[in-house]
Amino acid sequence: MDLATPDLTTPDDATLEGLETLAVDVALEAGRLIVDERPPNLGVSKTKSTATDVVTVMDQRAQDLLRTRLQEARPQDGFLGEEEGGTDRRSAITWVVDPIDGTVNYLYGIPSYSVSVAAVVGDPTVPGAWRPVAGAVFNPVTGELFRARAGAGARLEGGRAPERRLELAEPPSLGHALVGTGFGYDTARRQWQATVLMDVLPQVRDIRRIGSAALDICAVAAGSLDAYYERGLNPWDMAAAWLVLVEAGGVFSGLGGEPPSDRMVVAAAPTLHTALHEVVLRAAERAGTDSTL
Ligand code: IPD
Repeated sequence: MDLATPDLTTPDDATLEGLETLAVDVALEAGRLIVDERPPNLGVSKTKSTATDVVTVMDQRAQDLLRTRLQEARPQDGFLGEEEGGTDRRSAITWVVDPIDGTVNYLYGIPSYSVSVAAVVGDPTVPGAWRPVAGAVFNPVTGELFRARAGAGARLEGGRAPERRLELAEPPSLGHALVGTGFGYDTARRQWQATVLMDVLPQVRDIRRIGSAALDICAVAAGSLDAYYERGLNPWDMAAAWLVLVEAGGVFSGLGGEPPSDRMVVAAAPTLHTALHEVVLRAAERAGTDSTL
C-alpha cells in the first residue's frame, strides 16, 4: 500500500458488528458514570472554579474508562480522545471518543449531553483521510442511544419513543427548515460564526443551539432537526454522529467539496443539504476565510 494513501477499506460485517456492539457497551457504561457521579449541586457552584474542575475530572474519568474498556477488548487499535492526544495503532481501526460532548450543558444540568464513541478507519487527525465505520452516541439523561455501522443502517434505541431504524424523510425547503448550529469557545471564532449566522438566520425557519454537536447531528438523523452546520468541530465531536446521519440517508460534508473538518460541517437530507450548503458557503465567503478563525 502507498503510505501516503490512507487505507479506508470497510471491515467485514462480522467485525463491524463487533465494533458497533463494543461502541454501544462502552458508551452506555461511560454515560452511567457521568450521570451517577455528577455532584447534584454542580450547577449551583458554577461560578467557582471548583465546578469547572469537577467537569474536567468527570471528563477525564469517563475517558479513562472508555480507553481502558476499548484497550481490554481490542488492544491493537488506536485511540483518539478529547482529553488527550492519540496513540499508535497496529490495526486498521482507531477509536475516536468524546467522553462528554456538551460539557457546558453538563455543568449547568441541562439534559443535552452525550458520550460519543466511534471506530474509524484511516487517520482521524487528517481531514479527508478517515471515516467512521461503527459508532454510538448516548444521552445518559434521556436514555436515547443512537447507533450505526457502515452499510447496516442507523437505529435509535432507549428514551421514551419506540425503538426504530432511522431513515430521513423528505426534508422541508430551506425557508421551512429548523437548523441547528453551535459556537466555539474562542472569541474571534465566535465573532466569525455570528457573522455567518446573520446571513443564515433570515433564510431558515429558525436556529437551535442545543449544545452537543453529536446530539445535534443525530437529531438531524432522527428528524427532530432538519439540518445542522458548524465551524470548529473536532473529530471526536462528529465521528459517531456522522455515521448515524449517513446511515439514515443524510449527507455530511465540508464546504465547497472539502471533507468534513474543523473548517465546516454541513448535515442534512440531500436536497436540503444542497440548499443549506450554498447559503453557508456564500456566508462563509462574505465573513472571510481566515483559517485561524
Ligand atoms: C462542544 C459541543 C458544542 C459545540 C462545540 C463543541 P464539548 O463540545 O459539541 O455543541 O458547539 O463546538 O466544542 O466541548 O462540549 O465536548
